[in-house]
Amino acid sequence: MKKLLYNPSQVVTVNTNGKNVKRGKELSEVDCLTEHSIVLEDDLIKDIIPTASVSKNNFEEIIDLTGKVVLPGLIECHTHTAFIGSRADEFRQKLAGVDYEKIAASGGGINSTVKSVRNASFEELVKTVSPRIEHFIQQGITTLEIKSGYGLDFENEVKLLQVIKYLNEIFSIDIIPTFLGAHTFPPEAKDKRDEYVEEIINRMLPHIAKQKLAEFCDGFCEATAFTSEEIDSIFSTSKKLGIKLKLHTEQFNNVGGLNVSLNHNAVSVDHLEVLDNSDIKKLCSSDTVAVLLPGVSFFLNYKYAPAKKLIENNAVVALATDYNPGSSHISSLALIMSLAALKMEMSIEETISAVTVNAAKALDVQKSVGSIESGKKADFALFNCNEYADIVYDIGKNLNCMTIKNGEIIYNLSGGSSY
Ligand code: NIG
Ligand code: FE
Repeated sequence: MKKLLYNPSQVVTVNTNGKNVKRGKELSEVDCLTEHSIVLEDDLIKDIIPTASVSKNNFEEIIDLTGKVVLPGLIECHTHTAFIGSRADEFRQKLAGVDYEKIAASGGGINSTVKSVRNASFEELVKTVSPRIEHFIQQGITTLEIKSGYGLDFENEVKLLQVIKYLNEIFSIDIIPTFLGAHTFPPEAKDKRDEYVEEIINRMLPHIAKQKLAEFCDGFCEATAFTSEEIDSIFSTSKKLGIKLKLHTEQFNNVGGLNVSLNHNAVSVDHLEVLDNSDIKKLCSSDTVAVLLPGVSFFLNYKYAPAKKLIENNAVVALATDYNPGSSHISSLALIMSLAALKMEMSIEETISAVTVNAAKALDVQKSVGSIESGKKADFALFNCNEYADIVYDIGKNLNCMTIKNGEIIYNLSGGSSY
C-alpha cells in the first residue's frame, strides 16, 4: 500500500548517505528539507519527493502534515523504565545535601527499588510500566530500550525481562530488552560477590540467552558496584551466548570499565561523566557509541560528560534520559536535548543526531531506523512548531503531536491514540 506524508513544513532526514551513523562533525548535519513530501510503501520509507511533483491519485492514503515538522521516530537508547515504587524520600534527602552514593550505601538507592520490584507481581509491573511507555510514545519515541536490573536474583531478573517482553508484544513500538543483572550487588550477596557473579554467568545469562529475553547485557562498573574484572568475565560469557554488550561506566569513578568495554567491542559505553582525557582518543577511534546522560548530572547536581571534546575527536555520541527512580527521574527526551545543548555545549543539530541515528546505533538497529532514508522503517515523530530548533528551545514542553510507527499513526494529539 502506498501512502503519502504530505507537505510538512520541514523534513529533518538526518541523512547519513547510507552510513547509518554520524561521527564528530557529521552530527551537526541533519539535512533539513522544505517543500518535500515522504512516500511510504507498506511499513517502509520509499522516497522523499518535492511536494510540487506529487500526484495525489497515486496514493491510497494521504496524511496531511501541513505546518508540522517531521523527524525520524526518536530512539530512546538507555532507560530503567521497568521499576516500581517511589524514591521521593531519597530525593528529599538529596535536596538536604546527602549524596547519591551515601544514600545507596545506607540501604537506599538501587536496592530500595529492588525490594519493591521483588514484592511486585508481573501484572502489577505491567500496570505500572505501561503508562510510562505511552508517555514515551507521546513524545515521538518509536524505539525504546528498557533494562532489567531491579530484580538482582534469578527469579526477579527473569520476571522483569518477561514484563519487558510482554510490553513489546502489546505496544506497537519496538522495545529492546537489556539484562542488567550486574547493576549492583543485592543485599544477600554483599559478602558473597563471587557467588553472585557466578549466578549471573552460570545461571541467569544461559537462561536469558536460551529464552531470548535480552538483546544486550549491561553492567555498572563502579567503585560501589562491579569491578572491571567482574565485568570482564560477565562480558566474556555474554558474548559467547550471542548477547551484545553495553556498560555503565566512568560515572563517579574510573575503575577500568572503558577498557574492558573496548576490548569486548561493546556496542555502547554509557555515562562517562569522569572520562579521562587520555582515554578520549581511544574511545573516539572505536565503533563504540558514547551514550551521554545529562539528566543524571542535572538530577544529581554533578559534572557533565565531555560531549564537546568527544565530538571534536570524532566520537559517535548519543543521548538518552536514563529514566530511573534514583539518579534521573526524568522521562522527557526533549528536556535531555535541551540540557545537552545548554550544559554540554552541543548544538541543536548535534542533539537531534544523538537521539535519532546515533541512538539507533547504540541499540544496533541503525540499519532499519534512526533516519529518513529509503528502505528504512516508516517511523516518524511529528512536531507542532515553526522549525525544528523549537523542539530544543521550548524547554520542558512536549511539542510532539503525532507518532507514526511502521507507517501507522499510533498517536495523534487531536485524535487520540492506538498504541
Ligand atoms: O544509570 N548507575 C547506575 N544505575 C542507574 C541508577 C539507577 C537507580 O538509582 O535506581 C543510572 O544512573
Ligand atoms: Fe542507567
